[in-house]
Amino acid sequence: MLSKEDNDLLTRVGPGTLMGTMLRQYWIPVLFSSEVMADGTPERLRIMGEDLLAFRASDGRVGILAENCPHRGASLYFGRNEESGLRCIYHGWKFDTEGHCVDMPNEPPESNFADKVRIKAYPCIEKAGTIWTYMGMERPAPPLPALEWLDLPESHSRGSKRVQYSNWVQAMEGDIDQSHLSFTHSSLRVPEVSPGERPTVQQVAAFDKHPRFEVVDQPCGYTVGATRSTPDPDVSYTRITQWLMPFHTMTGVTGFNPVRGWRAWVPIDDFNTVVIGISFHPLTPLAELNRDGGAGGGQGARPGGTRGGVANISDDMKEPKTSKPFGAWRPLPTIENDFFQDRALQKNETFTGIREFWAQDAAPQLSMGFIFQRQYEHLGTTDRAIIQARRHLLNAAKTLSSDGASPPGVWNPEWYQVRSGGKFHGADEWWFAATEQDRKAIAGTNPDCSV
Ligand code: FES
Ligand SMILES: [Fe+2]
Repeated sequence: MLSKEDNDLLTRVGPGTLMGTMLRQYWIPVLFSSEVMADGTPERLRIMGEDLLAFRASDGRVGILAENCPHRGASLYFGRNEESGLRCIYHGWKFDTEGHCVDMPNEPPESNFADKVRIKAYPCIEKAGTIWTYMGMERPAPPLPALEWLDLPESHSRGSKRVQYSNWVQAMEGDIDQSHLSFTHSSLRVPEVSPGERPTVQQVAAFDKHPRFEVVDQPCGYTVGATRSTPDPDVSYTRITQWLMPFHTMTGVTGFNPVRGWRAWVPIDDFNTVVIGISFHPLTPLAELNRDGGAGGGQGARPGGTRGGVANISDDMKEPKTSKPFGAWRPLPTIENDFFQDRALQKNETFTGIREFWAQDAAPQLSMGFIFQRQYEHLGTTDRAIIQARRHLLNAAKTLSSDGASPPGVWNPEWYQVRSGGKFHGADEWWFAATEQDRKAIAGTNPDCSV
């Protein structure tokens, strides 16, 4: 439970809010490189309540500018992207990727007014097929977090995105809540484990629906172990999730030499979120793998015809692309059409009767209302990870506001070099010790995550 004041502090992210100011200290992933072409159409973005445009100039550099022209406010979305700048279609003012006004053709040639006009421009970094922006005040800007996939060739990763019509915190909380796995994503028909056979993760989740949760704090977030009993009393199974400030999640993957997943839960504004997911393999180009990791996923086999991952929408379940912010990534299943829930499927095959994997999460999350009022909740022992994430976020926002202290991890990119996973281990072994090597992102390795 949170007080109404803390809930407002946690969830409100517009300019000038405490949480919004804290989040702006971190680099934010916003686009895939393929979404903006040199001299091509700009992309509308809305990040933490700010309307922005991304465009790629003739020289290949990406700029992220305020959407509206500083002259009289026309949208630069309609602008001409030409000769290394974006030109407003109203009176021709032109801006470069850094926000300088480089041409003002409706003023007399002797005027130096253009030198005095700037449009808001945020720094960008393009790496591993993704574009990040920094909306904070530090100059030079801090380094990017050293997530392992950012150092892999682009062939080793694949991205996807999805817009979710709810506040970012309740969306992200679903990804660190491992308890729902035994319910929301479960099948009604889980095959029995044969004697002597190692159970699958799905079988373990069905066998033990009361995992013991332990949250171990890390320098800029935490590691969660969800430990379940297995049919073999000497063996336990622990699923490991990483949560990193302020919105990064890596949930447990399964399999041998697995495809891995990372996600960022980026607030569009107080009522909408975009989840950006990367599936990656630390050793091999994805095209060479004889399997589909599912962009943003790495969750392994799914029951009951479930489709997609946490971040990706199958093509036939997307709205036709529009020029709205993230207009290529909006799902057709929504709260208005009950996420196409199939009651016969729910009776006979899956716990939810909802086919899309992400929608199994989104249905309960959107049904809480756009911003869940956390003064009405009743948290149990399985909600420890959620409590701890809120604590980290609120502490960081309050400390930044009172002392001006940079939030954890902003200047320590190496703290992001971690992995999630899943492992069978001795029932009397501490999962954290048993997974020490597995949790480090060591280049050139990819430990198995037992199935
Ligand atoms: S409104 Fe953009 S140039 Fe006038
Ligand atoms: Fe889920």
